[in-house]
Amino acid sequence: MRLSLLPLGALLLTTPAFSAPSFTGEPDSTGKYWLFAPGISASFIPYGASISNLIITDKHGIDRDIVLGFDNASYYSVDPIHPHFGGVPGRYANRIKNSSFVLDDEEYHILPNENPTPSQPAGVNTLHGGPDGWDYRNFTVVSYSQSSITFSLVDADGKEGFPGEVISYITYSLSGNMTWDAKMVAIPTTKKTPIMLSSHTYWNLDGFANNETDTALNHTLYLPFSGQTIAVDSILIPTGEISPAPKGTVNDFWSNPRQIGDGFSDPAIVGNCGGSCTGYDNCWLVNRQHPYDWRSEDKMVASLSSAWSGIKLDIWSDQEAFQMYSCNGMNGSMPIKSTQGGDDGEGSRGVEKYGCVVLEVQDWIDGINHPEWGRGGRQIFEPGGDPYVLQVRHRFSVDA
Ligand SMILES: *[C@@H]1O[C@H](CO)[C@@H](O)[C@H](O)[C@H]1NC(C)=O
Ligand SMILES: *[C@@H]1O[C@H](CO)[C@@H](O)[C@H](O)[C@H]1NC(C)=O
Ligand SMILES: *[C@@H]1O[C@H](CO)[C@@H](O)[C@H](O)[C@H]1NC(C)=O
Ligand SMILES: *[C@@H]1O[C@H](CO)[C@@H](O)[C@H](O)[C@H]1NC(C)=O
Ligand SMILES: *[C@@H]1O[C@H](CO)[C@@H](O)[C@H](O)[C@H]1NC(C)=O
Ligand SMILES: *[C@@H]1O[C@H](CO)[C@@H](O)[C@H](O)[C@H]1NC(C)=O
Ligand SMILES: *[C@@H]1O[C@H](CO)[C@@H](O)[C@H](O)[C@H]1NC(C)=O
Repeated sequence: MRLSLLPLGALLLTTPAFSAPSFTGEPDSTGKYWLFAPGISASFIPYGASISNLIITDKHGIDRDIVLGFDNASYYSVDPIHPHFGGVPGRYANRIKNSSFVLDDEEYHILPNENPTPSQPAGVNTLHGGPDGWDYRNFTVVSYSQSSITFSLVDADGKEGFPGEVISYITYSLSGNMTWDAKMVAIPTTKKTPIMLSSHTYWNLDGFANNETDTALNHTLYLPFSGQTIAVDSILIPTGEISPAPKGTVNDFWSNPRQIGDGFSDPAIVGNCGGSCTGYDNCWLVNRQHPYDWRSEDKMVASLSSAWSGIKLDIWSDQEAFQMYSCNGMNGSMPIKSTQGGDDGEGSRGVEKYGCVVLEVQDWIDGINHPEWGRGGRQIFEPGGDPYVLQVRHRFSVDA
């Protein structure tokens, strides 16, 4: 199936308008599975159970593809840089200190894949489940309808060093009201094991069509329940400390909605994302008084919006931490998709530094190495016990 390009609208914005295909019950010719609901369409791929396109009509009446990814499903496993585009990091998202943890007095060693040194060339810690984490593997499609898809993965005993087999089901659904829901379930079948998943979606709510800036630093972020961060060292490994994010400091997105670039004039932004890194790659706690119904309107964990496109994303989740990465590592070399004007005839365009925002609902990062935080019930699972469950609702709206 060909993706059709509509004629340019009256606004003559540089990005061609883009129209999603219609439901066929099969992946399209590029290998993507499209879902549809009123006001929203999106595509997903087996590689990492990743989201690959998400289309919302902006305030100018133009369809925008607001997530990062590649033009076709087969390129994901070929791309040399592998930025975890839109996938499900697993079996344990984020970083594991020293690539090890202790469970029932036994020390486990997970394959390292970050921060190589001369004496530890593979790395000194593990990021997103190891060098062959879940978001580098092809899931199986177990069901597919016009508005919902379920992927499954069987993660073998000992893979990347984790104990026991885990079977997972990742279900994505679109519904009216411009909503994208994800439900992730993971079940250990043979041994007790840590499990922590997330959705690693990269957003640019202007679909890279903003003619005033190449960055997402003018996107506004609000984290109403997040007055604390998990303190990290120079390579982003939690130290065990929980830090306050006082009003007016760079990590304050709780006291008021605020543009992501707003804090960049504060010297404290240098080193905020580890080492000499300028920007965000931080984990905030989501402190809602227990018990709570995560679906309630007043329990929204995050909101991201762009005045330029008018597109707003509100997020609800049952997860109690929230990581935000401001794409500090991008440098223009990663191409944007053709649906975002990547092949607009003016030479290929890439994602600039700070050109996107990654929002990750998850649990307290590296909680398996901090039993004093008491996150075991949310991070350690065993056969016959409750399954691991993550739920997240993304609701879009458009302000004129
Ligand atoms: C898939 O996309 C990549 C870039 O995103 C491109 O280089 C490649 O030619 C495409 N392959 C097919 C079969 O369309
Ligand atoms: C995943 O499936 C794609 C087909 O869409 C294939 O090209 C690729 O080699 C597979 N990757 C892995 C890691 O199995
Ligand atoms: C770090 O891992 C190594 C093996 O990879 C192990 O020998 C050592 O005990 C671990 N150190 C800590 C502080 O956990
Ligand atoms: C649609 O969203 C609005 C808020 O934007 C909410 O008030 C309404 O209940 C939602 N409708 C449905 C059917 O979920
Ligand atoms: C960007 O595009 C908008 C809409 O067409 C237009 O009003 C505005 O003047 C443009 N800004 C720049 C800097 O070109
Ligand atoms: C965009 O962000 C820059 C830097 O934070 C700021 O100076 C500028 O006023 C912002 N523009 C808009 C339209 O908000
Ligand atoms: C840009 O980033 C890519 C991916 O991280 C890297 O391979 C490349 O060397 C970088 N280029 C420059 C000029 O820094």
